[in-house]
Amino acid sequence: MTGLVSKPASSLKGTARVPGDKSISHRSLMFGALAEGVTTVTGLLEGEDVLRTAAALTAMGAAIETPAATGVWRIRGLGAAPLTSPRATVYLGNSGTSARLLMGLAGGYPLQAVFTGDDSLSRRPMGRVIKPLSQMGVRFETSDGDRMPLKIIGADNLTPIEYTLPVASAQVKSAILLAGLHARGNTVVTEPSPTRDHTERMLRFLGADITSVTQNDGSNVITLKGFPKLVARDFTVPSDPSSAAFLTVAALITKDSDVLIPNVSVNPLRAGIYETLREMGGDITFENPREASGEPVADIRVRSSALKGITVPPARVPSMIDEFPVLSVAASFAEGKTYMSDLAELRVKESDRLAAIARGLAQTGVKAEMGEDTLTVHGGQTPQGGCTIAANLDHRIAMSFLIMGLAAKEPVAIDDSETIGTSFPGFAGLMNALGAGIGPA
Ligand code: S3P
Repeated sequence: MTGLVSKPASSLKGTARVPGDKSISHRSLMFGALAEGVTTVTGLLEGEDVLRTAAALTAMGAAIETPAATGVWRIRGLGAAPLTSPRATVYLGNSGTSARLLMGLAGGYPLQAVFTGDDSLSRRPMGRVIKPLSQMGVRFETSDGDRMPLKIIGADNLTPIEYTLPVASAQVKSAILLAGLHARGNTVVTEPSPTRDHTERMLRFLGADITSVTQNDGSNVITLKGFPKLVARDFTVPSDPSSAAFLTVAALITKDSDVLIPNVSVNPLRAGIYETLREMGGDITFENPREASGEPVADIRVRSSALKGITVPPARVPSMIDEFPVLSVAASFAEGKTYMSDLAELRVKESDRLAAIARGLAQTGVKAEMGEDTLTVHGGQTPQGGCTIAANLDHRIAMSFLIMGLAAKEPVAIDDSETIGTSFPGFAGLMNALGAGIGPA
């Protein structure tokens, strides 16, 4: 493991282009592989998680050309041809999105595939996907019914279902919809509160008949008509708002900072962190709002700000589900108390993120209380730092505490920087170009 340490910085200034959106990148490869014709993808996140999806699709017969250098990816879609059984076990590394979405996708073809992952992915619950997909006719063999490694035995004519998600999860929703592509009739998914809608937007962009209706109680009903003809279209992937959130918090808490992050997805179902940080007093503006491949995008401008603690509205949690580690860092510098609730899903991310945040805050000298699904951070005193945080195969924990190091009294280190490559290759270099001092521990 290679560690990294982040030293207090005097200011952050400049323009920084963060890598492509992880969720959209996975989906552009998957949908490109299915569509009739050739898809090009510009701005794909070439992070480890997305490369796992590319390799898995290739192992199942998709024709994906890796560009020689960073550039435009080209996919010759299968059209009516099927995905096929991979020759070997498919290793999906750290990537929950690859695992869950590909279970739904592969399940709609008459193939057999074994999926495995790293220690983090092997601990994550898969029953939430296995249950609905089994109802549709996909078969699974697992050692304990819920975890990887698992074997998928697909079928080419699945049964459409009507399914209410027990938890707000875009991965589970997407797995069902991807299986629904191969079910005759309407597959209907109801989500208790709306989650990221990239699957719906992108399938519609390619010609699928898919509708999404918000009910009076705030739930969302998505209906997909099976066996659509998907026609290849080119995708331009915007920058990832979850990655941009690290730079945003960095600029807010480091004095004399002014940072511009161009071309970021500001999809309302992803932008909860920006609303929250603004409510905390953050000077954040969305400049030049526009659309790219059906996604709302903007250039995000952030200047250092005096923050104050707030209560995060629970209804906003799904739209910032990956941003609680970095929000907790912002909260450490905010005057007063920040209260976060409805965080149960954080316990089943790349690590038990709620526990990891609480542990990291305690180590860096920040007062915080963790409940079963709540977190209270008492801010206002500059965190002490001067410690090493265990990344535990969780990229967002690693990056969040490096961000804290920019404005803590003493440097903050992490024990493993490799995990950052899953979603944000080049993170340290990009931060350093703005004025950060992140280097080998
Ligand atoms: C994702 C959905 C979210 C998120 C993950 C990416 C997706 O997971 O945490 O990083 O691309 O659909 P859940 O569906 O488990 O909330």
